[in-house]
Amino acid sequence: MSDKQIIIAFDLYGTLLSTSSISYQLEQHFGQQAQSIATEWRRYQLEYTWRLNSMGRFESFSDITRNALLHALGENGTTLGEQEITSLMKAYDSLSTFPDVTPALGRLASNSNLTAVVFSNGTKSMVTNSVMHSKDLSPHSSVFKDIITVDDVKQYKPAPAVYRYLAQKLGKAASQMPEIWLVSGNPFDVVGARSCGMNAIWVDRSKGGWHDAAVPSLQPTAIVHSLEQVVDKINLHQ
Ligand code: 2OP
Repeated sequence: MSDKQIIIAFDLYGTLLSTSSISYQLEQHFGQQAQSIATEWRRYQLEYTWRLNSMGRFESFSDITRNALLHALGENGTTLGEQEITSLMKAYDSLSTFPDVTPALGRLASNSNLTAVVFSNGTKSMVTNSVMHSKDLSPHSSVFKDIITVDDVKQYKPAPAVYRYLAQKLGKAASQMPEIWLVSGNPFDVVGARSCGMNAIWVDRSKGGWHDAAVPSLQPTAIVHSLEQVVDKINLHQ
């Protein structure tokens, strides 16, 4: 094992938190349709971030998430009242973690060679609520030395500016990008980080393999099937 300091930036939605877990709350309103609404909600949430980046515009991630919900509901031929939408947005701050998160973060907590942060598109308020107060993630909040969000940059992943901002917040110069390891379940995030010179681990929980070909030469530095494998993978590359 190397004793070199490891810097890991964990993506939040789709990496630590399961965005499809919101289907539990949607089920109360829509029964079996809940899963497809949850999938579309996430799809439009991401699509809006990319579209806004392309247009050079910015809306907060909280507004994007709310508007994406309205889009998903509309496309499913349904709607909800203000109060239900507000409570779904509140539930979005308490999404469930994936099953490997608790054991993985438990192990990281005892690793003194590690600096871990959360790095997310979410607003500071959304991410802070999830990390510090949600039932699943808050017991592990002390693992994270910082919560870094894109609010100040006013662009979303995978815009290069947000990865440069992450590096700046971690006190790393452009030449030190490879010292940062992004860990993400979102291929577009992995490619964005690699494009800026960071190392990046893709979390392939479904074991479906890497197929992203946005920039075929940009591949994950490593692929894991569980977050529990992350530190060992990084140590292999140190
Ligand atoms: C996040 O930034 C990409 O949604 C993902 O948390």
